Amino acid sequence: MTLLNDLTGAPPGTTTRALLLRLSTIGAVLAGSVGAFAYAGGWLSPATLTPAHVIDRFEQVNGPHPGFRRNHAKGLCVAGRFVANGAGARLSKANVFAANRVTPVEGRVALAGGQPYAADALATVRSLALRFRLPGGEEWRTGMNNIPVFPVRTPEAFYEQLLAAKPDPATGKPDPERLKSFFANHPKSAKAAALIKARTITSGFADSTFWGLNAFRFVAADGSATPVRWAFVPEMQATPETAARSAMTDKNYLFDDLIAQLRHGPRRWQLIATLGQPSDATDDATLPWPAGRETVDTGTLTLTNAVPEEAGNCRDINFDPLVLPDGIAPSDDPLLSARSAAYSRSFTRRAGEAKSASAVSEMTTQGAGL
Ligand code: HEM
Repeated sequence: MTLLNDLTGAPPGTTTRALLLRLSTIGAVLAGSVGAFAYAGGWLSPATLTPAHVIDRFEQVNGPHPGFRRNHAKGLCVAGRFVANGAGARLSKANVFAANRVTPVEGRVALAGGQPYAADALATVRSLALRFRLPGGEEWRTGMNNIPVFPVRTPEAFYEQLLAAKPDPATGKPDPERLKSFFANHPKSAKAAALIKARTITSGFADSTFWGLNAFRFVAADGSATPVRWAFVPEMQATPETAARSAMTDKNYLFDDLIAQLRHGPRRWQLIATLGQPSDATDDATLPWPAGRETVDTGTLTLTNAVPEEAGNCRDINFDPLVLPDGIAPSDDPLLSARSAAYSRSFTRRAGEAKSASAVSEMTTQGAGL
């Protein structure tokens, strides 16, 4: 009986029946947790999509690039701070939003796609990933893109789209028939693709808006929760990108520009939270929320320096969107857990592989005077 008491944490004097009930509850919880891990690992459902399938498909489409991220492979590490203005504190109890709180930030700017040495180009999706270090070991990690909506709603559609958009070796472009059939089967993606195509592409990283795209929930000190989507909006006046600029011979012109800009002074973005209404979908990143939703400017991100990827810096961070501080919670968006699982798989594979220098290397940053 004492052993049972110890195992279950039950107070002395608890009856055997009550103890057995307690044990079976613990067993059920354990079985549930193990089952959840097994599900996330894809061990229970060989026919369904697993994180390994997703990462295999990246490798199939892009070829092997050991040591690099399987997506957003070309990147540069950045660092700075976030200073909260206090306006976010009524929505979220996360320490990062407390008035005048200064939170150190490490991050990475990158180009979407699995080619680590691709030339910078006009239409390639740009990204900003950030890790906020909060007191007490808490962290907030987020990855954002310079597009207003995401092209797919589900992990399965993402998986299909990867193959549909694979460049044909003969033309260097995706097979139009395959793309057409993907969009015919995914009308939401067709609508999102039109919105993405219609966006204004700006001249560089520093004048790009980066959207978080997935919905989350801000949780206030009184327990109330608000659906949100966030974006980092540049202080710098946005200048449209020109085709002539993207035809420049410097293959790293976007990264080199940012390095040169940071050398002359910091670059800033406001962290704007858009508040969702109950009618707004939180599980569909292909859909924009209606215009005119309340927005809250919560503070300023200041990036002060850039360094090439190397051991121990942003190269070795997994910007898992589910690493959240108390006060920010996931929504029901199915992409969130899929991202978390796929990033982990990509991280595990690249962490165990030999490394080559990033395209945005020491040479580039020294050339730009850093
Ligand atoms: C099911 C959907 C998605 C999958 C499977 C996926 C997959 C991946 C993978 C494998 C990586 C490389 C991770 C690493 O090795 O560290 C990555 C990076 C990234 N993804 Fe996604 N992604 C998805 C959706 C999204 C969405 C919705 C966004 C934008 C909100 C996004 C933004 C990013 C960013 C910014 C990075 C680069 C992070 C960095 O610089 O390390 N992804 N993605």
